[in-house]
Amino acid sequence: MSYISVEGVSKRFGSTQALDDVSFEVPQGEFVVILGASGSGKSTLLRCMNGLTKPTAGSISINDTEITEPHPEIAMIFQQHNIIGEMSAYSNALTGSLQRSGVLESVFQFHDRAEKLEALQALETVGLLDEANQRASQMSGGQQQRVGIARALVQNPMTLLADEPVASLDPGSSQQVMEYLLRASDDRKLTTVVSLHQVNLARQFGERFIGLKNGQVVFDGYAEEFGLDVIDEIYDSPEHVGDDGDERDEEAAVDSQDEVTA
Ligand SMILES: Nc1ncnc2c1ncn2[C@@H]1O[C@H](COP(=O)(O)OP(=O)(O)O)[C@@H](O)[C@H]1O
Ligand SMILES: [Mg+2]
Repeated sequence: MSYISVEGVSKRFGSTQALDDVSFEVPQGEFVVILGASGSGKSTLLRCMNGLTKPTAGSISINDTEITEPHPEIAMIFQQHNIIGEMSAYSNALTGSLQRSGVLESVFQFHDRAEKLEALQALETVGLLDEANQRASQMSGGQQQRVGIARALVQNPMTLLADEPVASLDPGSSQQVMEYLLRASDDRKLTTVVSLHQVNLARQFGERFIGLKNGQVVFDGYAEEFGLDVIDEIYDSPEHVGDDGDERDEEAAVDSQDEVTA
């Protein structure tokens, strides 16, 4: 049985068709990369999967429960780090537990011993245990994003969704954040869906790849089928489709790869 099931999901914003009949299933524990150019619908898809956006048509379920609103077992890591600069790495990580505790606890910021240990453990998973007391605002962008991952882990989710988690980072930090994300996902056997626009990172870390173009799935497969022709198909802009169609060679594919990794 599939863990995540996306069935015929479409999303329209006014005259924009952000998602167009998107369907796929993700088994428990898989690490899936969503690839697509800017505007292809990656954020909209992840927001639908997290219950933040309601599809115009179709449905998304996780373990047979339809997702219609944010769910405590689905954690989301955003493009901007969304952490609080004035607070320490530890306090930021600890706020992940508020996603699954009651209003009273949130109001009084009450955390039990188990939650405190979980926050420290999550910081260790992302390699930041020694920086636990550091103010987030004094940390690098990559470290802040790792705090964001730690916070998501403290939520104790079954599913981890990340929307371009390395979009604002330099290549070195991007690499590191992706390594920690993969490690966190493997350690805790989380079903993970990450959107990226960097093809090189996708190829390095992805197990399975879903390519989006103009809101449609144009590729869904594993590493062995994920070649340059597929990348060209995903990133080719609509006005070029049909121009020289099948004549495009590997050089063109490499060019488009350079563009999207810049
Ligand atoms: N809240 C919104 N209102 C109107 N249009 C939107 C909204 N969110 C996304 N869109 C449009 O939907 C399309 C897909 O956007 P998005 O999901 O953000 O793509 P990506 O994350 O791949 O860049 C784009 O054309 C975008 O302008
Ligand atoms: Mg986006």
